[in-house]
Amino acid sequence: MRKPLIAGNWKLNKNITESESLARALVTDLADITETDIIIAPIFTALNRVAAIVDGSSIQLAAQNCYPQETGAFTGELSPTMLKDAGCGAIIIGHSERRQLMGETNEFINLKVHATLNSEMQVILCVGETLEERENEEMLEILTAQIKGGLVNVPAEKMQNLVVAYEPVWAIGTGKTASNEQAQEAHSFIRGLIQGLYSPETAEACRILYGGSVKPDNVDGLMAQADIDGALVGGASLKVEDFCRIVKFEKAGH
Ligand code: PGA
Repeated sequence: MRKPLIAGNWKLNKNITESESLARALVTDLADITETDIIIAPIFTALNRVAAIVDGSSIQLAAQNCYPQETGAFTGELSPTMLKDAGCGAIIIGHSERRQLMGETNEFINLKVHATLNSEMQVILCVGETLEERENEEMLEILTAQIKGGLVNVPAEKMQNLVVAYEPVWAIGTGKTASNEQAQEAHSFIRGLIQGLYSPETAEACRILYGGSVKPDNVDGLMAQADIDGALVGGASLKVEDFCRIVKFEKAGH
């Protein structure tokens, strides 16, 4: 059984004071949640202060990016170890905004995956096709390249520290969510890829999150899909009430 995981990607939002107050509100409202893992990813400069707030709570801290080197002449960058030192247990890697805006390639993303796993932190590896790719029927090819490229030389035993987030680019921040069926189809395909690269056991154990306009009103349907194990939430993670409702999604059959 895969434990659900709801992660909030705050992106470039909320200054330090605002991040602290959002984190405080979440710690209070989500104090009794044990059946779902919860992660929040504030801006870099707020990490250390938010770490103090979520310490000992049900909420774990993630960074939104890292650089795949430990230390050295890499002006403006942060290594997984430095982020761990700031209180992070996880790092979001290969988000589509970074792929598109910063030109991150699957090769570079793979280096970050290794650096993060080597620091004994959890990876949230993001993949997803653009609208153009979907319309050109290239979706499966793109997902294959992103999953295989991101996981080059990642050994099976490290896969327990890796979560995949399927985020169709056309659904991010647009208010357009993939239908439950579209999301399930992509998740099932990704699980199949992981099975091909590793084993049925590794694929069964790997959590695959859906991301792209997840909101209180669509989370329950998405979470009812067999291969959807959680959500990576952008916009709605900035609102206490919305994020808490998403974390407390209603399980199918209840
Ligand atoms: P969104 O962002 O929920 O605002 O669409 C999701 C993401 O980019 O992770």
